[in-house]
Amino acid sequence: MSAQDEHKKTIWITGASSGLGLALAKHYLLSGNKVIVSARREGSLKQLERLYPDELSFIAFDVTKESDVESVKEALEAKTQHLDLAILNAGTCEYLDIDEPDWGLFERVNQVNYMGMVRSIQVCLPLLKATSNSHLVGVSSQAVQAPFIRSEAYGASKAAVRYLLESLRLDLAPDDVAVSCILPGFIDTPLTQRNDFDMPFIMSPEQAAQRIEKAIAKRVYEYAFPKRLSAVLAMARLFPKLWFKYNSRERSE
Ligand SMILES: NC(=O)c1ccc[n+]([C@@H]2O[C@H](COP(=O)([O-])OP(=O)(O)OC[C@H]3O[C@@H](n4cnc5c(N)ncnc54)[C@H](OP(=O)(O)O)[C@@H]3O)[C@@H](O)[C@H]2O)c1
Repeated sequence: MSAQDEHKKTIWITGASSGLGLALAKHYLLSGNKVIVSARREGSLKQLERLYPDELSFIAFDVTKESDVESVKEALEAKTQHLDLAILNAGTCEYLDIDEPDWGLFERVNQVNYMGMVRSIQVCLPLLKATSNSHLVGVSSQAVQAPFIRSEAYGASKAAVRYLLESLRLDLAPDDVAVSCILPGFIDTPLTQRNDFDMPFIMSPEQAAQRIEKAIAKRVYEYAFPKRLSAVLAMARLFPKLWFKYNSRERSE
């Protein structure tokens, strides 16, 4: 292996068919790494593979399907014997309408965001453990820093992700697997393009990917960005009554 090759990493990214995951995949490809991407939409992943035939390959994976875990794990292990970095980014968002609640959305959101991450960890953990100095990164959200209206299901699933990663970090320390949690603010992706409210400090997926890549390189435990939003949410925690006053929903008659 040449000295140059030694710097190349093998990276698995879930939720890479659009938005942040796609931007992260492109970002890591540009710096010469080998990237394996997953999501449900095979067409988008195939298109990406055609653009980067030597450096990128894909494994279709619906993270809500428990029955797919073993075959996806085998497919990943068939592609590589070691994994330097796993970025578990697949996610969804549905907002609760408290006047006409669709209680089923809690299960749907949880199956992707939380249980989907658990299943993705099942897939990649043996390879991460077999690789020295490896790194598992999960994508949570700044939504966990303060309550937002209609975010009962999304926020709870992302808070669960954050705790899962914090706990996992302790358990994986003896195995030399670092664990990080990313808390993004608003990013302009298909997920947020359907939002009908103001999204302060929104940034492009490319800007977000650049920031996340830097944080991952430094192996930060937890990376919340942008800092301006973190500061607002820190104030919300300091002054919860004020946050309530300005954020509680007005009743529409
Ligand atoms: N955009 C933001 O402002 C923001 C803020 C904080 C956190 N985040 C988090 O960032 C992550 C990426 O979101 P995004 O904004 O980039 O949204 P996005 O463009 O909608 O991307 C979501 C990705 O997750 C995949 N996905 C969804 N359901 C899946 C399933 N059942 N199985 C496998 N993959 C699935 C999608 O691929 P397929 O549809 O092809 O399966 C897609 O690649 C999410 O975890 C999100 O919660 C986003």
